[in-house]
Amino acid sequence: MTSKVALISGASGGIGAAVAQHLQAEGWSLSLGARREDALSKNFPEAHVVHQDAMKADEATWANSAIDHFGRIDAVICSAGAMVARDPIEIEDAELNQMWEINVNSPRRLIKACWTPLAASGTGRVVILASLSGKRVRSPKAASYAMTKHAAVALSHGIRKKGWDLGIRSTAICPGFVDTEMARKVTDFPASEMTSCADVATMVRLAVNAPNNASMAEMFVNCSAEDQY
Ligand SMILES: NC(=O)c1ccc[n+]([C@@H]2O[C@H](COP(=O)([O-])OP(=O)(O)OC[C@H]3O[C@@H](n4cnc5c(N)ncnc54)[C@H](OP(=O)(O)O)[C@@H]3O)[C@@H](O)[C@H]2O)c1
Repeated sequence: MTSKVALISGASGGIGAAVAQHLQAEGWSLSLGARREDALSKNFPEAHVVHQDAMKADEATWANSAIDHFGRIDAVICSAGAMVARDPIEIEDAELNQMWEINVNSPRRLIKACWTPLAASGTGRVVILASLSGKRVRSPKAASYAMTKHAAVALSHGIRKKGWDLGIRSTAICPGFVDTEMARKVTDFPASEMTSCADVATMVRLAVNAPNNASMAEMFVNCSAEDQY
């Protein structure tokens, strides 16, 4: 049987790279996109790799190339993300627009470009790496990022509604701090106590492998006693 195919954005680092490692080890074929395509090719020599910049709206080119290469797409995992830690009054339009593009608009375009093969799969899976910042606003500085992550959670629910009768299931994974460059830039919380990328990757595996009638809409992931809402 041909192995299932997953597209993963943001696989050049952090959570996305861990997800790619876990799915590859499980036998999935991978199509990976990021700006640092050299890192993708080096770390995943067997994967289909494309240069992808979420700011350039080139997701359809990536999806078409993956379809030409594999002939199928069974899962789309949206891990590319950006955070500007500024409150809604001080943030500049360009900074906020960049987060909207990378955290919301680009995932939407990527899922849209993969819609036909996801439906053909019968068990198409979408996973959006959202955030607990998609559920609550922790501080003024976290609020602009939280605006985009609330939208990312809504995107996941919208995909879930639209795709249900086609066998497509979407899951929003909502972690607190995960030990990556992104988190280390904005907090003094000890890296060793943050959730690990490997543990988030395990949750992505659970979401993509769950049967159509045991689908998780949201997964909250805590590394401390923080608020969910
Ligand atoms: N770390 C946390 O504490 C945490 C918590 C909750 C949710 N999240 C979310 O989880 C996801 C992964 O975060 P992470 O911590 O793994 O972040 P990370 O280590 O900073 O990695 C971010 C990834 O996004 C890609 N990316 C950034 N800008 C891009 C662009 N313009 N076009 C295409 N790709 C781009 C990067 O690839 P290139 O630089 O190669 O393009 C990189 O692979 C994000 O959506 C983040 O918001 C993270």
